[in-house]
Amino acid sequence: MDLSAFRDVAIDIAREAGKTALDYFKRPLVFDTKANVNDIVTEGDKATEVVIVDQISQHFPEHYIHGEEGGGQGADIAAAEYHWYVDPIDGTTNYAHRLHYWCTSIALTTPDRQPLVGVLYAPVMNELYVAVKGQGATLNGQPIQVAARTDLSECIVVSGFPYDRKTNPDNNQAEWSAFAPQVRGLRRLGSAALDMGHIAAGRTDGYWERSLNPWDTLAGMLLVTEAGGNVTDYAGEPDPQNKPQGRYLASNGHVHQQMVDVLTSVRKYW
Ligand code: IPD
Ligand code: CA
Ligand code: CA
Repeated sequence: MDLSAFRDVAIDIAREAGKTALDYFKRPLVFDTKANVNDIVTEGDKATEVVIVDQISQHFPEHYIHGEEGGGQGADIAAAEYHWYVDPIDGTTNYAHRLHYWCTSIALTTPDRQPLVGVLYAPVMNELYVAVKGQGATLNGQPIQVAARTDLSECIVVSGFPYDRKTNPDNNQAEWSAFAPQVRGLRRLGSAALDMGHIAAGRTDGYWERSLNPWDTLAGMLLVTEAGGNVTDYAGEPDPQNKPQGRYLASNGHVHQQMVDVLTSVRKYW
């Protein structure tokens, strides 16, 4: 299995997707709502996913593709040796409000969702994050690694709030309040994928969020682990991508247990 060949194709596709997304970003906004008023999809999301899925299908007709907007496509799912998880725009709320923090996220995985290649491209910032299993992580071609900070009080940690937060009491308010006095900075930036990319780059130190889907996370997860960090569920257990609640805890590794302890201190729903 030559992962670098898959990586190179994924990079080209992410760059092309970024151009499409940026093109729509500069035009007047056209959008629909999905589950509720907070959960939207723009013309840019749909057009960008078409570009990515078309390209993957052309290069790898024997692979299966899970796209956020278009569902499953490609080869027979039971037979496919490789799966792609595609989030054409992670951070659609930012995108729709013309904020700059969003990216395309593409991951190649095994059928049981173990990431092999992860690529994020944030076109407004022109930042390309790439990770290959066993081969490390890069940002714009330069190797990256997680920060060395070991004390949560020196850390910036990031989170996100689920789309059902107005109706579901499991809305992350307790966790947010518990972290606030423990950290140097607490942020809600708006793209799960980039939130993990930033840990890999050593800019931030931790991230937690629930109800994430595999297209939000699989590329970012590989970036964090290849850069020396750790990704688990809230209890510190591996493979959050295969657990129904989609609760993720990513960190530079050094502060992982401290973050598990904070989450456990307000544990109610898991
Ligand atoms: C969302 C972003 C956001 C996170 C949400 C995700 P989308 O993805 O990653 O940061 O809080 O849970 O669904 O909808 O912009 O692709
Ligand atoms: Ca997403
Ligand atoms: Ca999306």
